[in-house]
Amino acid sequence: MDIYMDNSKKFDGVDYKNTFAQSISAMHELVRQVLSAQICNGDHILDIGGGPGMGARIIDEMGIKAIVTNIEPSTTINDVPNLLSVEYIPLHISLKEALDTRMPYTADCILMVSSAHEIALCNNMGSMENKKIFFHDLDSFIRKNLAPGGKVILGFPNYRKDASMAEIEHQRRLTESLLGHSHPPDELFTIEEFSSAFNTLPMVFIQKPMDLTHENPGTTALMANVAVFRLNNI
Ligand SMILES: C[S@@+](CC[C@H](N)C(=O)[O-])C[C@H]1O[C@@H](n2cnc3c(N)ncnc32)[C@H](O)[C@@H]1O
Repeated sequence: MDIYMDNSKKFDGVDYKNTFAQSISAMHELVRQVLSAQICNGDHILDIGGGPGMGARIIDEMGIKAIVTNIEPSTTINDVPNLLSVEYIPLHISLKEALDTRMPYTADCILMVSSAHEIALCNNMGSMENKKIFFHDLDSFIRKNLAPGGKVILGFPNYRKDASMAEIEHQRRLTESLLGHSHPPDELFTIEEFSSAFNTLPMVFIQKPMDLTHENPGTTALMANVAVFRLNNI
């Protein structure tokens, strides 16, 4: 992949729902499990980097009558879901553009599933600097758009804590063959980084192995993590 390409366009032209989303279904199952206890009818949700409305799809499958706005810069947003209970508002913009855009409402919940690392990469610096800028932008977005006491619900991948460099290299080659790209450990986020940025511990944090092939759950070095933070005064 061309390192100079605009990372927010990386998923352009990808049939995300039928390829990428199938591979990371373990992440979506964990998100579904957590969301079922965290959101309810009438909630207003901002899904940042939702691809083809993945947050809206998951919430609709649960039959919850929520409003979900998707902030998504790639063309995957053109794959608009058929929804029964969710009202869906697709916005074809990046997180940075969203900082200068009036959102349709103040949200009860901000959702980011497997998108934080991709959004951070858009800053085109080293991984630490990218994350610093990302947290600065996210903080501005939250201050403007999340109701006091609202929740930030995060799904994020990373490597098993005790995975060796050899296991990570092996995992990266497999990920590249299945998804077309992979990430070094420092580009992915940890629960400690989110806790430190939000200056609070998560109300909920669960993780499970994520086998992209669905064949060898015992051998994957990838983890799916889901965390819920309640933010009173970020
Ligand atoms: C791995 S996909 C996750 C999609 C979806 N949230 C899910 O649950 O499967 C990462 C998403 O982040 C989006 N993204 C990349 N850069 C972004 C940015 N600067 N602002 C918002 N979204 C961005 C990508 O276009 C892509 O749809």
